[in-house]
Amino acid sequence: MFPYFLSSFFFVAFVLLSIKYLHYSNRFKEIRRVINAMAAGDFSSRMVLSHSDKLGDIARQVNELSLGIQKRLLEMTHEKEKLEAILSSMAEGVLVISMESRLLHLSPSFLEMFEVRSHDWFNKYYWEIIANQAINESIHEAMSHKRVLRKDIAIVHPKETFFNMLVSPVINSTNELISLVVVFHDITEFKKYERLRTEFVANVSHELKTPLTSIKGFVETLRSGAMDDKAHAIRFLDIMAKQTQRLENLVNDLLILSSLESKDVKMNFVKADIVSVIHSVILMKKKQIEELHHSLTLDVPSNLPLVTIDAQRMEQVFLNLLDNAVKFTAVGGKIQIRGMVEGKYLRIDVGDNGLGISSEHLSRVFERFWRADKARSQETGGTGLGLSIVKHIVEAHNGKVRVESVLGRGTRFSVFLPLEYDII
Ligand SMILES: Nc1ncnc2c1ncn2[C@@H]1O[C@H](COP(=O)(O)OP(=O)(O)OP(=O)(O)O)[C@@H](O)[C@H]1O
Ligand SMILES: [Mg+2]
Repeated sequence: MFPYFLSSFFFVAFVLLSIKYLHYSNRFKEIRRVINAMAAGDFSSRMVLSHSDKLGDIARQVNELSLGIQKRLLEMTHEKEKLEAILSSMAEGVLVISMESRLLHLSPSFLEMFEVRSHDWFNKYYWEIIANQAINESIHEAMSHKRVLRKDIAIVHPKETFFNMLVSPVINSTNELISLVVVFHDITEFKKYERLRTEFVANVSHELKTPLTSIKGFVETLRSGAMDDKAHAIRFLDIMAKQTQRLENLVNDLLILSSLESKDVKMNFVKADIVSVIHSVILMKKKQIEELHHSLTLDVPSNLPLVTIDAQRMEQVFLNLLDNAVKFTAVGGKIQIRGMVEGKYLRIDVGDNGLGISSEHLSRVFERFWRADKARSQETGGTGLGLSIVKHIVEAHNGKVRVESVLGRGTRFSVFLPLEYDII
């Protein structure tokens, strides 16, 4: 009886243990499946939890681990996307280099700035992608000395461009280099402006120096005896008066230019009749035109529309243009002013049959201080600022100014003023 009872007991125990074993074996299989999925990068698999399950704690922990990693990964992806969006939207060119000198990130602006054609830059050594020696040397220097470096870099090809380069090593708490961030700021405009400013100062100084030297020389000559020779003295004083006038013209033109360039200058826009502006300019120049026996014709239709202008400044425009036509035309010349509507513009031409400007110089006429004949302008008192002022004023009206000329035949300046100009 007893052995039978024992064998039944063992049989039941065996069956129960087998069931338990099968259960645990399945649970372990499930744990392995979830862990294998995690190892393969899939963190979405979860284990089924069961209260009666002794492996429930482990299953719960595996699920929590998987969920935690999935969350961290998502956060990291978001951070990476955010960083990439920031870098992509930056006008500055940015590159990130690993401590092994490999490229981790290149911003789109960088690719554009340096015309990097290769799309296969990731994990390449930076010198394999960047062809500029000065840039590579700076990166190397900042990397080996673990220090911030700022440098201006000039690039000639494909076009002259200037960059300010900032290399910043990223260093951890134990002073180890983790990566290097390089930012390129395009300073071409600034350099151009700086160059213009230097040229401008040099030009102004030169323009001031010539009449000043002349005046000083004649003062010395008069002092050292020439004053007693009346005829000479008068001639010298005439020259001094002319040079003083030159100085005054220059200072006046500079003041006009600087007031036009200063941001807070107010234009006094009103709807006005351009013809009356032209009439008053002709009146100002009448005497000189008669003295030089020029003929002047004004050809404007009676129904010319009104335009939005700063009348006083527009007077300056036509005074400068007419002044040029008068002084750069030989005695007895023909000057013609014409007005017309052309498309969305009111067009006014000031033409002459004077000296003309050679085609290679034509593009320079609006440059400050440019004159075709500097020696001649010593006599005429011209500073070469008149047309710069014209261009400035016309552009402040949202208009444009054009020039056509044939050397020895004549010149025509055309001013275009928008017919519908919204006053800002
Ligand atoms: N109508 C024209 N015919 C021939 N050359 C001209 C004419 N207008 C301008 N130029 C040339 O362009 C140059 C620049 O003109 P701009 O009016 O700026 O200076 P300027 O007349 O010499 O001096 P400013 O106007 O300051 O008295 C002149 O020196 C001249 O060489
Ligand atoms: Mg002039």
